[in-house]
Amino acid sequence: MEPRTVQFSRTKLTELMIPSYANFGGKVHGGLILSLMDKVAYACSSKHAGTYCVTVSVDGVEFLQPVEVGELVSLDASVHHVGNTSLVVGIVVTSENVKTNEIKHTNNSFFTMVAKGDDGKPTKVPELILEDISEMRQFVNAIKRSRVKREAADKMHKEEEEFIMVDDMQLLENQRCKIQFTADDEINDLFSDT
Ligand SMILES: CC(C)(COP(=O)(O)OP(=O)(O)OC[C@H]1O[C@@H](n2cnc3c(N)ncnc32)[C@H](O)[C@@H]1OP(=O)(O)O)[C@@H](O)C(=O)NCCC(=O)NCCS
Repeated sequence: MEPRTVQFSRTKLTELMIPSYANFGGKVHGGLILSLMDKVAYACSSKHAGTYCVTVSVDGVEFLQPVEVGELVSLDASVHHVGNTSLVVGIVVTSENVKTNEIKHTNNSFFTMVAKGDDGKPTKVPELILEDISEMRQFVNAIKRSRVKREAADKMHKEEEEFIMVDDMQLLENQRCKIQFTADDEINDLFSDT
């Protein structure tokens, strides 16, 4: 299996935002943008892998600015990292006003995809050829992101396991919630001041 460059699978998708994509507020649905992101991640990862790929996880989805009907949304996807059977695809989403040519940066996300063979099992992907510092940096950052995510998940798992009613109640101070359990008067009495 020959190694492949980042450029080999770089994929750009541009779509006009038509009125049927709008929500009740007149802006484009976030879900529509997510669906386009998934599509471009699939195209890019499958091209690199030479086989079909599935989405395993998504990181960094934040809608920084609203997208308006009539704008041209472009999604630029490239492979940042490859493991044995997985690939990380970085996606930059921008939205252009066709009248003013103003371009808004909407979103930066990372889709982890896994290549599947004809038997439906994960299958090995080609190595990635890194041709400049920027591509090397993206590869390294994907390794760091994965490590940080694993550490954060472990920490959160511990926090969830260690729920201690009295201590954790402090976290509810100044929060916009009211303790009103439906079937436990003792608990309601305990927290009647909150
Ligand atoms: C993700 C999936 C392929 C893992 O299958 P598996 O038999 O457990 O395979 P493995 O444990 O060997 O994992 C395969 C790769 O996925 C990676 N992976 C698995 N879970 C992951 C996660 N949550 N985040 C990131 N990578 C993950 C592994 O690190 C491994 O990568 P590598 O080969 O590059 O080291 C399998 O659970 C699956 O098919 N999930 C459904 C995906 C799907 O259908 N998506 C569309 C939803 S509609």
